[in-house]
Amino acid sequence: MKIVIIAERLAVETRVAVSPFTIKKYIGLGFDVVIEKSAGLKADFTDELYQAAGASIESNLKKLLVDADILLSVQRPTAEILKILPKTALVIAMLDPYAGVKQLAELKNSGHTSFAMELMPRISRAQSMDVLSSQSNLAGYKAVLEAAGEFGRAFPMMMTAAGTIAPARVFIMGVGVAGLQAIATARRLGAIVTATDVRMATKEQVESLGAEFVMVEPDADENSETKGGYAKEMSADYKKRQAELVAKHIQKQDIVITTALIPGRPAPELISKAMVESMKPGSVIVDLATSRGGNCPLSKVDEVVSHNGVKLIGYANLAGRLAQDASNLYARNLMTFVSFLLNEDKNAIDVKWDDEIVTGILVTKNGEFVHDLFADEAKMVVKTAKATGKKGADDE
Ligand code: NAI
Repeated sequence: MKIVIIAERLAVETRVAVSPFTIKKYIGLGFDVVIEKSAGLKADFTDELYQAAGASIESNLKKLLVDADILLSVQRPTAEILKILPKTALVIAMLDPYAGVKQLAELKNSGHTSFAMELMPRISRAQSMDVLSSQSNLAGYKAVLEAAGEFGRAFPMMMTAAGTIAPARVFIMGVGVAGLQAIATARRLGAIVTATDVRMATKEQVESLGAEFVMVEPDADENSETKGGYAKEMSADYKKRQAELVAKHIQKQDIVITTALIPGRPAPELISKAMVESMKPGSVIVDLATSRGGNCPLSKVDEVVSHNGVKLIGYANLAGRLAQDASNLYARNLMTFVSFLLNEDKNAIDVKWDDEIVTGILVTKNGEFVHDLFADEAKMVVKTAKATGKKGADDE
């Protein structure tokens, strides 16, 4: 059995799909591990480190991909790679399934069977394969540090002989995995933290981290949470009441970190231009949702911009700014999934096609879209246009 790991083609992608630790595990499972030359450099994994763990390094793409049984990567592999990769090889990566049929057409046309790790069901036996959790946790932590780096003041209260420094006020919007870690990090730095979410279940979590929950009462008949624990799109009335509350609260904040996402939908707009303009100069907004259109219309993908003295940070790949930890965790998520794909004796690939883990993340099988997401292709394209069309790297 041969497992190959490619170097990421996107310049902004710093992560890599294998770590020295997981190489040893794969070899223990009977795999030959072949890694494209320099694949791990941006995550500080040198070719020598990989070789010491037992992998081979290959610079020739054809030699790398020949006879591969499994290809692992962070981003969706390019058409050039899919063309060379044997049709029988399984492709396992963050395929960005919500990008739409057009973007994923290459995977369909190449005839491969592919798995989108972002679609991993949130069930307890799949927790160790949950890439959204592993990456969002790091993104939430890094968001606070990025904000602190741009902020011209300190986070904690400091009483010095020269005077007292007031603590920073940090507001977290969206309390999923990233938001919870952002709260914990900002609290550790000594800030006064408040947070909000549409899911009422988050109130207790926010308070247990020592932050205050800023609440918008849901409509009596409104359930803000799906069975999978994700947020739903809220009613127009809820959005209006939320905007009023946020408008009042945000004026007093120094740092706002937004993490609000709704799977398969554009990110909800939580901070309007007027709200940004109501904030004090020197305040910082970190928008973690820029890749899905952003929680604020003024933030820009992968840029730090300033509006009336308020800085807006829009890095789409915040986890990638902690490349080694992000790669280590992502590589372990993949390794757990790959071992799940093996038979009971752990000596051959034997995909359990009916298992909910497989059906949950299987996007294409032998060149056909098989996931429910693609059941109505036309609808999906519209969603995508809304989700990503709002703000591209070269808009505005
Ligand atoms: P996410 O990345 O999809 O969204 C981030 C947060 O934004 C969510 O808390 C969501 O409720 C919130 N949000 C959406 N629209 C909003 C709006 N208009 N205003 C304010 N907030 C808004 O969320 P993530 O991090 O993927 O977590 C989703 C759920 O999955 C959580 O309940 C989490 O605890 C759960 N989870 C379960 C796991 C498991 O059982 N294996 C693993 C990880 C997370």
